[in-house]
Amino acid sequence: MKADFEGACAVVTGAGSGIGKLIAKKLASGGARVAAWDINGPSARETVKEITDVGGESAAFQVDCGDFGQVLKASKSSMKFLGRLNILVNDAGIVAGKSFEELTETEVEKVFRVNSLSLFWTNKAFLEHLKKSKRSISVTVASAAGLIGSARLTAYSASKFAAVGFTCALRNELKKEKCAVKTLLVCPFYIGTGMFEGVKSKFPALLPILKPETVADKIVEAIKAGKERLVLPPFAALAGFIANAPVPIADRVENIFGINSCMDEFVGRKKENDGI
Ligand SMILES: NC(=O)c1ccc[n+]([C@@H]2O[C@H](COP(=O)([O-])OP(=O)(O)OC[C@H]3O[C@@H](n4cnc5c(N)ncnc54)[C@H](O)[C@@H]3O)[C@@H](O)[C@H]2O)c1
Repeated sequence: MKADFEGACAVVTGAGSGIGKLIAKKLASGGARVAAWDINGPSARETVKEITDVGGESAAFQVDCGDFGQVLKASKSSMKFLGRLNILVNDAGIVAGKSFEELTETEVEKVFRVNSLSLFWTNKAFLEHLKKSKRSISVTVASAAGLIGSARLTAYSASKFAAVGFTCALRNELKKEKCAVKTLLVCPFYIGTGMFEGVKSKFPALLPILKPETVADKIVEAIKAGKERLVLPPFAALAGFIANAPVPIADRVENIFGINSCMDEFVGRKKENDGI
């Protein structure tokens, strides 16, 4: 793997835990220099320690990706550490996991700041640097919940639909400008990282709760291959078609697949900063 990212420089948000941590470690073990961003400073530093302990190059940055001022400040220090930028991975994300009526105004705003607005802020801060590299990519870790809306996920689903829309529009804009920067949109079904602790899949053979290692591996492979879209598992790609079918059919099929009952036993993370 060493040669895969030799000489590359990357920023990974949400690198203190879950998929972001695994992606940061995999890019670093492939030879990339990695700026590990997280709102949780100690966990970002722990990721960096795990990378540098085995000879990799990484530095930690404590930053709230939903705050443009913090993103701009951290982008400047990150560029000093990295020198250039080839890979931006927008992975930071949160979920509230409550019914619409239980959601507070603060929770709704926070979910949108982290899952949607952060994409504007990091891409604004880093696009000019990505443009300077011959091969570069901006990755959005969205969700299958950005292709289909399900019960108890109004804020999360809406924020991930925004992430999908942002990434598709940016891809087309960059292509129209004949800009070489690629985009990669990632839409996974539920992953066993703890963020969605308690969720259940009605048909695990078709829609399994994904293994974090597998998801991170597929994302890193997609970055390497310059892929533009990754839906996991592949069966989840049907979500977009189902969501756009006539509503009575869409609702029926979604209920058959248990999409609206997955969240019934949701517990999620209970730690500070790791969710709401
Ligand atoms: N876990 C799943 O089932 C699942 C499914 C589909 C998509 N996703 C998406 O994958 C991404 C990673 O999820 P995960 O399961 O690894 O979750 P995770 O909770 O393990 O990791 C998320 C990380 O983001 C960080 N973070 C939260 N708010 C932040 C902020 N404002 N600024 C910077 N960092 C912040 C957290 O501290 C944490 O380290 C998220 O965008 C999530 O929405 C997750």
